[in-house]
Amino acid sequence: MKILGIESSCDETAAAIIEDGKTILSNVIVSQIDIHASYGGVIPEIAARSHIEAINPVVNRALSQANLAIKDIDAIAVTHTPGLIGSLLIGTLAARTLAIINNIPFYPVHHLKSHIYANWISGYQPEFPLIAAVISGGHTQIIYMDRHDHFEIIGTTRDDAIGECFDKIAKILGLSYPGGPAIAKAAKKGTSTRYQLPIPKVNGLDFSFSGLKTAVLRAVQKELNLPITTPSYELQNHLSEQQIADFAASFQATAVKILIQKLKKATQNYPAKSILLAGGVSANQLLRTELEKYFSKNYQTYYPKPALSTDNGAMVASAAFYSIQAGEQAANPYELDISPRSVIS
Ligand code: KG4
Ligand code: ZN
Repeated sequence: MKILGIESSCDETAAAIIEDGKTILSNVIVSQIDIHASYGGVIPEIAARSHIEAINPVVNRALSQANLAIKDIDAIAVTHTPGLIGSLLIGTLAARTLAIINNIPFYPVHHLKSHIYANWISGYQPEFPLIAAVISGGHTQIIYMDRHDHFEIIGTTRDDAIGECFDKIAKILGLSYPGGPAIAKAAKKGTSTRYQLPIPKVNGLDFSFSGLKTAVLRAVQKELNLPITTPSYELQNHLSEQQIADFAASFQATAVKILIQKLKKATQNYPAKSILLAGGVSANQLLRTELEKYFSKNYQTYYPKPALSTDNGAMVASAAFYSIQAGEQAANPYELDISPRSVIS
């Protein structure tokens, strides 16, 4: 079964064709990172406009790279929630139009669920039940799945997403956007124990990252003997390379510790055979190492190939394939609801 997957929930316009849930026939991603980098974050209006320009060429390229015509496609899958509303609109409109004109079965896909399936297109077959940490610039969720068509959000962030926290702290330290890779790189030359950062106290499996961001800001001001009224954009001018590396390492270690602690708690509350990472932050090497250190003895541990950990259409098509196998019926493309907030369907 060949599925065209379309993704436009944030700042990547992406389309891919996947055969039987795991074989990648094509995977086209047009990233807007360069456009947003100068602002230090994603500007929703610019993202939506860029999707409009990119969507048709991206879908056409996905078809031509797979040597297929639209009539060869058995199903069309598209991200419909959660995400930036203007961005979601473009991908879903394109997918609905293609499905209607060509009479192809149509499947809306939840973005968090699709991130988890990046592990299947990376060549793995994780066993259920599983616990997945979906961690990226837009989301920080722990999800429990006991089978393909059933997923339950068991932990979520109460404020910022973890990737957003990497991005904002990178900005304070004067590192480039996106902050995750820049912090990981700077941290290599740093000492993670130099600055003590607090672990937020949040009950259950929920997260809070905004306090950690403020803690780093205060620690930088204190280190530089500057008043707390000093604007964050001024701090980078006073930091030495070593201080930047030490702050990056200390923050990264703390963020990873928070995640590992919550995953440990999740395994105490939910029976699992596999633990998965997914989303942009799953590319973090320290996190991958710590995941294996703490869990690989008693669980199967997985994380996607780096190129598949950030937003792409292949994971959308894969998620749809396994839902269809589990009995999901095609949706009516005339009646699709999109939602910026997470809706579990
Ligand atoms: O999944 P993704 O491409 O987009 C969203 O759906 O948000 O994730 C992007 C996020 C950014 O916040 C970026 O800083 C973070 O993933 N990221 C990383 C790493 N690579 C990307 N965070 C930590 N370490 C990395 N190596
Ligand atoms: Zn994402």
